[in-house]
Amino acid sequence: MVNYKDLGLVNTREMFAKAVEGGYAIPAFNFNNMEQLQAIIKAAATTKSPVILQVSKGARNYANATLLRYMAQGAVEYAKELGWENPQIVLHLDHGDTFEVCKSCIESGFSSVMIDGSHLPYEENIELTKKVVEYAHQFDVTVEGELGVLAGVEDEVSSDHHTYTNPEEVIDFATRTGCDSLAISIGTSHGAYKFTPEQCTIDPATGRMVPPPLAFDVLKAVEEKLPGFPIVLHGSSSVPQEEVETINKFGGALKAAIGIPEEWLREAAKSAVCKINIDSDSRLAMTAAVRQVFAEKPAEFDPRKYLGPARDNMEKLYRHKIENVLGSAGKA
Ligand code: G3H
Ligand code: 13P
Ligand code: ZN
Repeated sequence: MVNYKDLGLVNTREMFAKAVEGGYAIPAFNFNNMEQLQAIIKAAATTKSPVILQVSKGARNYANATLLRYMAQGAVEYAKELGWENPQIVLHLDHGDTFEVCKSCIESGFSSVMIDGSHLPYEENIELTKKVVEYAHQFDVTVEGELGVLAGVEDEVSSDHHTYTNPEEVIDFATRTGCDSLAISIGTSHGAYKFTPEQCTIDPATGRMVPPPLAFDVLKAVEEKLPGFPIVLHGSSSVPQEEVETINKFGGALKAAIGIPEEWLREAAKSAVCKINIDSDSRLAMTAAVRQVFAEKPAEFDPRKYLGPARDNMEKLYRHKIENVLGSAGKA
């Protein structure tokens, strides 16, 4: 058993309480490779932002669970080296789908886990989430549950329609499971194709596509039912159009990739939403930079020459999210 506290990591309890109180959100960035992790830590350390490092089941399979855990431990030391005296870094399991995978993460040094029972019947979601909470809390590990279904792919679970969270269920769910935070569904979804062009309107000022509004009324109703309770927003990439354009300019084929407008995330961050999940934007920033180097310097074959620019581009993106969207700079 490795306790996360021995690795210099923290759980989400205190950082979420401060974020809800302070009207900002903590960035939860997915990672599965060294360059992403370096970029996240550099952005968080230089802006002094608390940060959540998220590992999905897919990332565990890709990079090896043990290696990822040691990388997170290394990230704490790297953050200190960068001059962040008291790093506020969480290592979080994203979309855990069984009790066993949550237990395995808790035993290997994770400070927070998500148990995603959102696709299960309500009572089964409660039962599974409660079981994970009872185990996790013995080790002061915090637990995120989910109510409502997001459209798109959630790890290996895929759904082409969403179901908004029912605000009538949240008190019962939070009370009976004892979870520390709750992911809700208000119209965001995973991946780079969150909306079809047909669902969007054109902003006459910018010519950009504007997606249908998120269900902020559902968020408000949830907040009224559970005042001050930490709420999580998945599927919150904005799909920066300049990255999409760069990818397509240099041989990519991303058609009509549309994300969540940043203004909406800014608004959400001011509410009880205290954790905002971003993965796809980092993938786009990495791919754009790599494609550009490949196209402009076809003779280059040293990975550092294309992964370096990819890392720089991701760091810029993370810093932008922290400073200009989530409002978490200077909070750690
Ligand atoms: O929720 C989905 C995350 O973006 C993780 O994606 O399962 O492809 O690693 P992944
Ligand atoms: P995006 O695909 O919008 O980045 O969402 C990531 C996410 O919710 C991870 O759990
Ligand atoms: Zn998610």
